[in-house]
Amino acid sequence: MPSDPAAVAPELARLYARVFAEPPYREGPEQVQEFLTYYTEDSAKPGFAVVTAREDGTLVGFTYGTAQAPGKWWPGCDKPPPPAIMDGPSFAVYEWAVDKRYRGRGIGRELMARILAHRPEQWATLTVNPAADAYRIYLRAGWRRVSMSYRDNTPPMVVLIRQIAGWSAIPWGVARGRGDR
Ligand SMILES: CC(C)(COP(=O)(O)OP(=O)(O)OC[C@H]1O[C@@H](n2cnc3c(N)ncnc32)[C@H](O)[C@@H]1OP(=O)(O)O)[C@@H](O)C(=O)NCCC(=O)NCCS
Repeated sequence: MPSDPAAVAPELARLYARVFAEPPYREGPEQVQEFLTYYTEDSAKPGFAVVTAREDGTLVGFTYGTAQAPGKWWPGCDKPPPPAIMDGPSFAVYEWAVDKRYRGRGIGRELMARILAHRPEQWATLTVNPAADAYRIYLRAGWRRVSMSYRDNTPPMVVLIRQIAGWSAIPWGVARGRGDR
C-alpha cells in the first residue's frame, strides 16, 4: 500500500481517466474530477485501503475501498441488504482498474487478492455495470449478485457480495477468522 494515499491521487486519476474512457463507461473529465473528490474523501475514512501495481515505476493498476458499518448499503437498491451485511461490517470495493496494455496478466486478480487480504470484515461488496467485462470476471471469481442499484445519472448497476477468503461461515452461524482454521 502506498505510504501516503493522497500523494498517489493524481496518478490514480490519470489512470482512471484512461481506463474509464473505454466502453461501456465512456467517462469524461467531469467523472474523473468526481473520482478525485470521492477518493480524497474516502482516503480519510476508517478502514480505507488502496493497492497499486507498477511496471518500471509507472502506475498500471489500482484498487481501493473502505470499510462499511453494519447495515450500510448501496444507494438506490431494489432489495434490502442481505443478513451478511446487516450483521457486521463489510468492505466496499469502489474501484478496480488495470491499464488496457497490461490486462490479462493476472495484475487485476493480484490487486483484488491483496486488497481483500487481512481484512477484519467478513464480506466484501461492490457495484458493477453489467455491460462491462468486469461483471463476468467477478462472477467467475465467486462474487454473487444480490441486488440492483438504480440512481440518477448512472446506468443500472448490479450489486455483488463475496465472502472474504480466510473467513468461512460454519453451520451454526458463527464466523471464524483468519488464523483460526
Ligand atoms: C477488470 C480488470 C481490472 C481486470 O484486470 P486484469 O489485470 O485484466 O485481470 P487478470 O488478468 O488478473 O484476470 C482476472 C480474471 O479475469 C479473467 N479475464 C480477464 N479479462 C477477461 C475478459 N475480458 N473477459 C472474461 N474474463 C476475463 C482472467 O482470465 C482471470 O480469470 P482467472 O482469475 O479465473 O484466471 C480490467 O479488465 C479493467 O481494468 N477493466 C476496466 C475497468 C473495470 O471495468 N473495472 C471494474 C469496475 S467495477
